[in-house]
Amino acid sequence: MKGKDLLSIADLTSKEIWQLITSATKIKQDYRRPFLLGKSLALIFEKPSLRTKVSFDLAMRELGGHAIYLSQSEVGLGKREPISDVAQVLSRYVDCIVVRTFSHQDAEELARYATIPVINGLTDEEHPCQALSDLLTIYEKKGKLKGLTLAFIGDANNVANSLILAASLVGMNFRIASPNGYQVKERVLSLARRFGSVSGATILLTEEPATAAEGADVVYTDVWTSMGQEAEAEHRRKVFARYQVDEALLAKAHEDAIFMHPLPAHHGEEIAKGLLDSPHSVVFDQAENRLHLQKALLLSVIAGIS
Ligand code: NVA
Repeated sequence: MKGKDLLSIADLTSKEIWQLITSATKIKQDYRRPFLLGKSLALIFEKPSLRTKVSFDLAMRELGGHAIYLSQSEVGLGKREPISDVAQVLSRYVDCIVVRTFSHQDAEELARYATIPVINGLTDEEHPCQALSDLLTIYEKKGKLKGLTLAFIGDANNVANSLILAASLVGMNFRIASPNGYQVKERVLSLARRFGSVSGATILLTEEPATAAEGADVVYTDVWTSMGQEAEAEHRRKVFARYQVDEALLAKAHEDAIFMHPLPAHHGEEIAKGLLDSPHSVVFDQAENRLHLQKALLLSVIAGIS
């Protein structure tokens, strides 16, 4: 994957996804080899971040390279400076860019003008690094991906978009329970259906959390109000009120089901208070796996090592 951008999960084949999972599994056991000695990564972040920022920074350091963090006030993508100029300048300095921004089209424009790989560190449309790390976590816990069923409860947001594409590429059945008006958009759905027709993954959209959770191997949720939607928070709290994941909903899933959340979580909103302490919860494994999977990704796109 040397030189390749990762803006959407749809940029990957199932073979590439498996290469990343396999490589991340190896790296997790033996992680401090300086394969990226002297290489540098620019982190352009226009939204807040804990996991993505820390895990990419550490990933570079532990592989012998380094990262440079650039906040919104420093870069101002498309405002202080045209995106095309930012892309061309950074391409002369660093070996890879991770961008977290609002508009997915801005990330695409950055990638179009950059001559180095650009990785999506979250846009309003997708969060591919989260979905790939989640596949690693599910694989570790379940020993397979194909044939499992993931139930996503809540907003069909960036995380859900990346998950439905990732699941349908690797043959994992995907169910999503969301209120009317907050369901997966046709563009993403048709892509996922196309991937599913090859991999065998089925896709189910419902408005009923219990229908989605019934017998599922993985129950997944995310915030009701994503970054950038803060003005809608009060309205969303009402719309999503019956989409909270609690022990009663988890009890409808398979008895060995795992519970996942990309974090940050709003305890008492999309998850019942205390749910992260449930024996089903693997959320901190998910957070840790961001580091390992992203090391595999950086090695692959910067150095062509898999
Ligand atoms: N959907 C959330 C994910 C945060 C990791 C957001 O975009 O804010």
